[in-house]
Amino acid sequence: MKTTGNTIFLTGGTSGIGLELARRFRDLGNTVIISGRRKDLLDQIATEDNIEGLVLDVADPDALSTVTTKYPDINVLVTMAGIMRDEDLHTPDLAVAEETIAINLLGTIRAIATFTPHLLQQPDAAIITVSSGLAFVPLALTPTYNATKAAVHSYTQSLRLQLADTGIQVIELVPPAVQTNLLNGADPDPTWMPLDEFTDESIALLQQHPDLEEVLVDRVHFLRAAERENRHAEAVAILNSSH
Ligand SMILES: NC(=O)c1ccc[n+]([C@@H]2O[C@H](COP(=O)([O-])OP(=O)(O)OC[C@H]3O[C@@H](n4cnc5c(N)ncnc54)[C@H](OP(=O)(O)O)[C@@H]3O)[C@@H](O)[C@H]2O)c1
Repeated sequence: MKTTGNTIFLTGGTSGIGLELARRFRDLGNTVIISGRRKDLLDQIATEDNIEGLVLDVADPDALSTVTTKYPDINVLVTMAGIMRDEDLHTPDLAVAEETIAINLLGTIRAIATFTPHLLQQPDAAIITVSSGLAFVPLALTPTYNATKAAVHSYTQSLRLQLADTGIQVIELVPPAVQTNLLNGADPDPTWMPLDEFTDESIALLQQHPDLEEVLVDRVHFLRAAERENRHAEAVAILNSSH
């Protein structure tokens, strides 16, 4: 994708990777509109970062229906919104599983479905989905989260194949563990990748490789390539011994 001169709409931009990516895209000369549920943060970001925001919940089926009418120049969609909760499968809590699927998977599919007819009419259009290294090697603590991210990866591949006859580029961002408050809203582990380093490396990859299909920073190769390199069982063991 081109990295300047776009109008980018990003779900899940009130904190973490989404907010940092929104700032980088803005600095590169893009118009960026973010969204999320926390109005106080959207107001603060509008004032401090000069990035416009919309209050919306991607789990609401109609939440995105008026966005492209309000911002007809949007040519890039980033489906960043996500939650990550731990689950004990000895005492299953279906509420966590259902909310995780509604936001991470259905929210992604609905956003893409809502925006695709609009993006088909736009020049330089792109859809960036957000999976995870955990799509490829599961963290036992977060089973439904891992499953939604594996599904987002698969869905993204099908989307890319189906839209190959259009001008819409389909890109998957595959973060490793990055220092945000994603896991249960808790403080991040200092051994995870610093947010600045992650966004710097991701933006550099997008700038260097305009036809990129997957944004893979160095740190995620341990998980992303585990199966291909015949060390999946080892990667599962290492990942889960450190949590
Ligand atoms: N950090 C990591 O280690 C890591 C690794 C792999 C993948 N990822 C993915 O990266 C994405 C961003 O996560 P993050 O680490 O930056 O965590 P974060 O700071 O918690 O960001 C999550 C974002 O999603 C938004 N969101 C959550 N539920 C939403 C909903 N129902 N409707 C609209 N927005 C919603 C949140 O905004 P509101 O709360 O304001 O709604 C927030 O802006 C997620 O998809 C996550 O799975 C993160």
